[in-house]
Amino acid sequence: MTAEPLISFAHASKTFVTKDKTVRAVNDVSLEIPAREIFGVIGHSGAGKSTLVRLVNALETVDSGTVRVNGTDLGGLGEKQLRRLRADIGMVFQQFALFSAKTVAENVGYPLKLAGWPKARRAARIAEMLDFVGLADKAGAYPSHLSGGQKQRVGIARALAHSPQILLADEATSALDPETTGDVLGLLQRANRELGTTIVVITHEMGVVQNICHRVAVMEAGMIVETGPTYDVFARPAHPTTRRFIQNALHSHPAKPVTDRLHAAHPGRLVLMTVTAGSLDSEAFNLARIAAGRHVVSSIVYGSITEVAGRPLGNVVVEMVSDLPDPAAGQTAIDDLLAQLAADGIGLADLGTAAAPLDDPAWAELSGEETTL
Ligand SMILES: Nc1ncnc2c1ncn2[C@@H]1O[C@H](COP(=O)(O)OP(=O)(O)OP(=O)(O)O)[C@@H](O)[C@H]1O
Ligand SMILES: [Mg+2]
Repeated sequence: MTAEPLISFAHASKTFVTKDKTVRAVNDVSLEIPAREIFGVIGHSGAGKSTLVRLVNALETVDSGTVRVNGTDLGGLGEKQLRRLRADIGMVFQQFALFSAKTVAENVGYPLKLAGWPKARRAARIAEMLDFVGLADKAGAYPSHLSGGQKQRVGIARALAHSPQILLADEATSALDPETTGDVLGLLQRANRELGTTIVVITHEMGVVQNICHRVAVMEAGMIVETGPTYDVFARPAHPTTRRFIQNALHSHPAKPVTDRLHAAHPGRLVLMTVTAGSLDSEAFNLARIAAGRHVVSSIVYGSITEVAGRPLGNVVVEMVSDLPDPAAGQTAIDDLLAQLAADGIGLADLGTAAAPLDDPAWAELSGEETTL
């Protein structure tokens, strides 16, 4: 039995009409976000990501289709019900959106004050939240005296102060440097683990998805073009846009000039292989063992393996050389080995030899124009 998703979109569409154009910002989106997950929505600028999440707290409403939170259809909710819905959803933004004339403590306490919490209870909760985000010593400081990362911590403390079930993070780390980004992502992960908050992370950086998202949806021109568990999407991306995002995040897929240099340095057959958690565990990736008795010697000449959602993933280029005296028989031995690896489910692309190079099918796609605006 599958649990009811916390957030679900069914054929949701939202069109903006301005005097010079009509934009279908969200176009027939059907998507389910389970409770207690960190769910990533990635896409280029203008893909419709912010509009999609603004449908969740009813800052925007659908033209057609439905959006449900906790099973409740948001269409047709009255003001009072909308206030209750929004009280259960926190939001953090790229530009922090703190009140500059209020102290850190006043910023964090603001939503509690609006909700009518008595002063003593408010103070206790503010202290608790500042402690959670590691800013207990900054309670009396003003935002202008904080670094970007500290400001975002305040933003997160404020968004989580009233213990919302859902946190929407719209490009929460886009204004931060890589190290500070790591700190803030770590904080979101703690909120998810320790407080059980369901987090929807909007980003245009696949690295954010790679680090903290359990599941991801790739958005383009208002539509979800691919969705699934983060590792599966990284290991077997189906859509060209997803493949480009992953290429930019992992850097391990060699572009044509790199392969040209590899051919110049290594005369044997070059084969690009995708290394996944499955292939690392399986004997199939033990190249020495599988090549034994096949007259093929393999060496890794390029690549990297990194972690995605806590499991290994990467690409390596392997040079395969046969020790058979007859070159044609040697190439056949390598062909047979590649056929065996492919049959074992190893993703690979034959790049040929220096004398007879072959194109990686991914090149055409990776060097192609960006397709979204
Ligand atoms: N209130 C609005 N009025 C008119 N057009 C809008 C409005 N909000 C968004 N749009 C348009 O809808 C499309 C999607 O915008 P949205 O802000 O959702 O994209 P995004 O993926 O969040 O982009 P970014 O990464 O730049 O934040 C864009 O073409 C945008 O210009
Ligand atoms: Mg946006």
